[in-house]
Amino acid sequence: MTLKIVKYGDPVLQKEGEEITNIDGELAKFVDEMFGTMYTAKGVGLAAPQVALSKKLFVMDVSSGKDKQDKLVVINPQIVETKGKIVSEEGCLSFPGIYFEVERPEIVTVQAIDINGKEYTFEASGLAARCVLHEKEHIDGHVFIEHLSPLKRDLIKRKINKKIKLGEWE
Ligand code: CO
Repeated sequence: MTLKIVKYGDPVLQKEGEEITNIDGELAKFVDEMFGTMYTAKGVGLAAPQVALSKKLFVMDVSSGKDKQDKLVVINPQIVETKGKIVSEEGCLSFPGIYFEVERPEIVTVQAIDINGKEYTFEASGLAARCVLHEKEHIDGHVFIEHLSPLKRDLIKRKINKKIKLGEWE
């Protein structure tokens, strides 16, 4: 089953997700559906609020299903350390067709819980680091256009309003 990905404008995207306290079979099933939804949408990361679940959980796979090691379930994450800075183009499944450059740390160390309830720590760099930081923002109730200047953010919002009018934002 594929879940519906909510678009910018839905209040769930601007609400801080709750910590996950219970990891069970039901959550594991939901996580499987999140992966399926993400692969179908050709994304490399998907946060629970993007599928209308306001919780601190995201999935990611920068290899798009090619490398099992890249397939991560990230629950209640904490960013332990960041290093460097890099500017790169970024998109978001909740902002279809919208891409712009965002400056982010180049390397990130994350502590999280996996789908078996086990705590783990991992270091990510390049696209994986960008993905972790982008998804972490989602579960904290933030979206990537907040990185833009007010002027550029306005331009994007106008572009979105145009898409809404054309019925291209559903
Ligand atoms: Co996103």
